[in-house]
Amino acid sequence: MTSSDSSTAPTQTPNSDPAAILQAAATAPFGTVFGEVMSVARVDDGGWTAPSLESLASFSLHPGTHALHYGSSCFEGLKAHRTIDGGIRPFRPDKHAARLQQSCGRLLLPPPPTELVTELIDMAVAANASVTPPAPGSLYLRPTMLGTDITIGAAAYPSHSAILYVLACPVGDYLPPRPLTIVVETEIPRTTPQFGVVKTGANYAMALGRIDRARREHQADQVLFAPDGIVQETGAANVLLLDGEHLVTPELTDAFLHGVTRDSLLQVARSLGWKVEERTVTVDDCIEWAQRPGAEVGLMGTAAVIAQVGTLVIGDRRIDLATRDAADSKLVELRRTLGEIQTGARSFTFA
Ligand SMILES: Cc1ncc(COP(=O)(O)O)c(C=O)c1O
Repeated sequence: MTSSDSSTAPTQTPNSDPAAILQAAATAPFGTVFGEVMSVARVDDGGWTAPSLESLASFSLHPGTHALHYGSSCFEGLKAHRTIDGGIRPFRPDKHAARLQQSCGRLLLPPPPTELVTELIDMAVAANASVTPPAPGSLYLRPTMLGTDITIGAAAYPSHSAILYVLACPVGDYLPPRPLTIVVETEIPRTTPQFGVVKTGANYAMALGRIDRARREHQADQVLFAPDGIVQETGAANVLLLDGEHLVTPELTDAFLHGVTRDSLLQVARSLGWKVEERTVTVDDCIEWAQRPGAEVGLMGTAAVIAQVGTLVIGDRRIDLATRDAADSKLVELRRTLGEIQTGARSFTFA
């Protein structure tokens, strides 16, 4: 099924006051206003249930639920965009389904079939169409998987049962109001090597201490993890260096999350004829790059697409990057181009 297929109409109460929800979303922090419908499927030894729609409401979990004790949970984050032909299209849902399956694989959770994930996404999009803002806003979707075996004696065993649900949040253009300040952390990685490619809450919890410290001590926005001087990613985004039409980003390893935005932007940059290098990036590379006149550093992720970095804090040094006019910024051009693809204003086929 696709989001334009009306055969799966919501069976529960639709969004009660779409205008109020959209209005609230226009000013509220990202991810705090929700569409009132979610799509849900469950799995146990008997296999997956058919996907269904449910009204968004608190649901009960037994206090001994596996996910609450042993971290058997993972999630995805993607957006659905209103397109110029009047539809609403989720961006690269297959790619997110594949990453969810990969996360489930590492957590030994039952991996949901691709068609199930994309159908749940399409159902959530269709059911929340009335609260999907026009571009540059979008509907942010959060497929979430929780291991639901009821046991506190299974620390060394996976959960066989699970729930998979897709939350929907109307969101505006998530562009930070100013270029970001990033602290470069060279002592510890963001997470463990076996969990680098897993989108699970434990990874965010592990990074939180350093991010909180960077905020308090340097008024920073985020931390770039670069253990032993090798750049991985920030707490919630991949990193890129741009010098004109030359783009450099760390090559994919198991140490960090393989961003769908990263993959998409690299494909777009290559299609524009830019030089794209995926290679080991060191902190020294970042220092050298940040001091080049006109070079840009950005963070890539679903929420902001690309957020510009204005200051790198490395040890005692603060390096302010030269600012560029939007009209002159390749980073802005790349972001705009992906936005045009997402809304169908520009055609592009991703590999
Ligand atoms: C740790 C981390 N790295 C990278 C990304 C970027 O991934 P994507 O582009 O798929 O949103 C995210 C965002 O979800 C993230 O949380």
